[in-house]
Amino acid sequence: MLPDKLKKTLEKQIAHTDHPRELVVDAMLALQDHYGYLSDAAVEEAASLLGMSALEVEELATFYTFIYREPVGKYVIHVCDSLICWMDGYESVKNYLCEKLNIEVGGTSTDGLFTLLPVCCIGYCDQAPAMLINRKVYGDLTPEKIDQILEKFRSEA
Ligand code: FES
Repeated sequence: MLPDKLKKTLEKQIAHTDHPRELVVDAMLALQDHYGYLSDAAVEEAASLLGMSALEVEELATFYTFIYREPVGKYVIHVCDSLICWMDGYESVKNYLCEKLNIEVGGTSTDGLFTLLPVCCIGYCDQAPAMLINRKVYGDLTPEKIDQILEKFRSEA
């Protein structure tokens, strides 16, 4: 269950829209931020708040890259696998991340800190190869830079 304060905030925002559907992504992200991922129960909760069916919310949840229907690590790494990054070293970056985290793409490290996922172009082609961690961009990636970034997150965890 959502805390009363968050639930009331969402209800207030939804009440001010022409159609609750406008806020479906915001609502899903708010529930995800609270629960850590968008579980089936959270989909039902979002649907109830928005006056939509769970199936309608589910369809949007699976379409949107930054909604997680499975548990994820504290830090979600989205490594860009689109054309420019692919030409500028995506494969090496992806392999290095997999090696350092001891996971495959789609996996979560055993310490629960990092989940590695692919993403389409994130608009930082001039800094390729690039990735996002919790939606913040890191570009011009090299093994040394990746080591520094991962270390920074580990030390903050
Ligand atoms: S192709 Fe990777 S950021 Fe554009």
